[in-house]
Amino acid sequence: MKTIAVRIARKRQEAEGIVSLEIGRIDGAPLPPFAAGSHIDVHIRPGLMRQYSLYNDPGEHRNYRIAVVRDPASRGGSVAIHDELREGDLIEISEPRNHFPLVRARRSLLFAGGIGVTPLLCMAQRLSRIHADFEMHYCTRSPERTAFQELIAGTGLAASVHYHFDNGDERQLLDVREVLGDPDDSTHLYVCGPDGFMAHVLQAARTYGWLPQNIHYEYFGAQPMDTSGDTAFDVVIASSGETVRIPAGKSVVEILRQHDVDIEASCQQGVCGTCVTRVLEGEPEHRDRVLTSEQKAKNDQFTPCCSRSKSPVLVLDL
Ligand code: FES
Repeated sequence: MKTIAVRIARKRQEAEGIVSLEIGRIDGAPLPPFAAGSHIDVHIRPGLMRQYSLYNDPGEHRNYRIAVVRDPASRGGSVAIHDELREGDLIEISEPRNHFPLVRARRSLLFAGGIGVTPLLCMAQRLSRIHADFEMHYCTRSPERTAFQELIAGTGLAASVHYHFDNGDERQLLDVREVLGDPDDSTHLYVCGPDGFMAHVLQAARTYGWLPQNIHYEYFGAQPMDTSGDTAFDVVIASSGETVRIPAGKSVVEILRQHDVDIEASCQQGVCGTCVTRVLEGEPEHRDRVLTSEQKAKNDQFTPCCSRSKSPVLVLDL
């Protein structure tokens, strides 16, 4: 994918363990427009690329803003951004992509866990700008680890944002029954945060009977997966008829690349949706967190960066 050369115009400590980067073109020209929920690839240094959601108002054209929590247990991107990148550094990014878009609804409920606030803050600014009815629930460990309190207070979002701190008293904790206990088909839910938070909110929404099509979510990372039972399977390239063997332990994207079939991929862990490919025959074994269960059930597309096959052969629309 085409990259854009940008400069880090500003790096700022937003909260304990969280920094934000404001990035813009070197000549100050506008960046490609983006919609709420979008993310970009950030090429932190050669060989290290990660995806981050944009948190700024989609009405801003000269800057993208991302925020990163320092997580030494992660795959290294967050620590490199915290420790290595400086204001003035030149880096490359991708154009924004969006697999977590806002849909038109009478009302929107946004649920943010920790740094999962970034795409939701972008949505909140958009909803506020168009005077839409929304409410955001922002759950974090403590006020000290809560980014963007100033921004929220200063942009008129404050009245719509409810903070819930793990270390606060019980009365202010997120009460899913109170917020989700009365499903409404004209309201849409948006959820982003760590796995435990996602499971808590999504499970509650399903239990209380929210329509699946009204529940939207985005995960940060791959789901834990036992791959010890993986076996080989074949993929057939529909345009050429070529059959390629995919061994256990290797992804379809990886092996097809060796056969000069390039599928555009980004996160390589089933969360960004960049690699989604049409399946013409066969039954994929879906391992991503980006397709909905309805999309997965159709078995007519899959994510070749991480998903495999239940049938011996998959015919791909390539
Ligand atoms: S590359 Fe991100 S889902 Fe496959």
